[in-house]
Amino acid sequence: MKNAIVGILVLFILGVAGWVASKGGPYNGGEHGKVIADMGSNTTAKTAKVAEKDDRQKEDDKLNALRDKAGNAGAFEVSQAYKSKCASCHGVNGSGFQNGKPMMGPKLFGQNADEIFKKLVDFKAGRKENVVMKGLLMHLEESDLRKFADEIGEFPARAAAAK
Ligand code: HEC
Repeated sequence: MKNAIVGILVLFILGVAGWVASKGGPYNGGEHGKVIADMGSNTTAKTAKVAEKDDRQKEDDKLNALRDKAGNAGAFEVSQAYKSKCASCHGVNGSGFQNGKPMMGPKLFGQNADEIFKKLVDFKAGRKENVVMKGLLMHLEESDLRKFADEIGEFPARAAAAK
């Protein structure tokens, strides 16, 4: 009787072992295999993403180079005041780009004098929020703002004349 019980137990254990084996252990697929496969596909996805980013970076670089070229082609005379007070953030030609990289300040080139003047007055009055611009304009008179605005408004015409 004892032998029979042992025999049944052995059969049962072998059966379970067989079942587990048929489901696949760590070395022949199964859950672990799946996890490893997942990791694999994840890595591929990541590589694809990196490649995509590289492509986008290249596009950006191209665009920046173009912008830069356009900026350089539009090299023209600007006042000493603009050069010393504004060019460091907005570019010598107001393009907002330097060596293909966006600068701290946005593009001013192409906006007309009145638009620029209104924005400057708004910065100074605090209606348009920007700590940098406000601090910068605090010590300037409205007549100075007008001068800067008029000059920046002339940029496209100056660029065209300089070609
Ligand atoms: C230290 C950097 C810095 C300097 C110097 C600087 N700016 Fe700016 N400027 C900025 C930043 C940053 C902005 C963006 C502010 C915003 O819109 O939030 C800006 C925005 C502007 C705008 C609004 C542009 C738009 O389309 O909204 C005008 C106009 C402008 N600046 C004119 C000037 C003039 C004129 C000078 C020189 C007297 C000057 N800036 C100097 C950083 C600078």
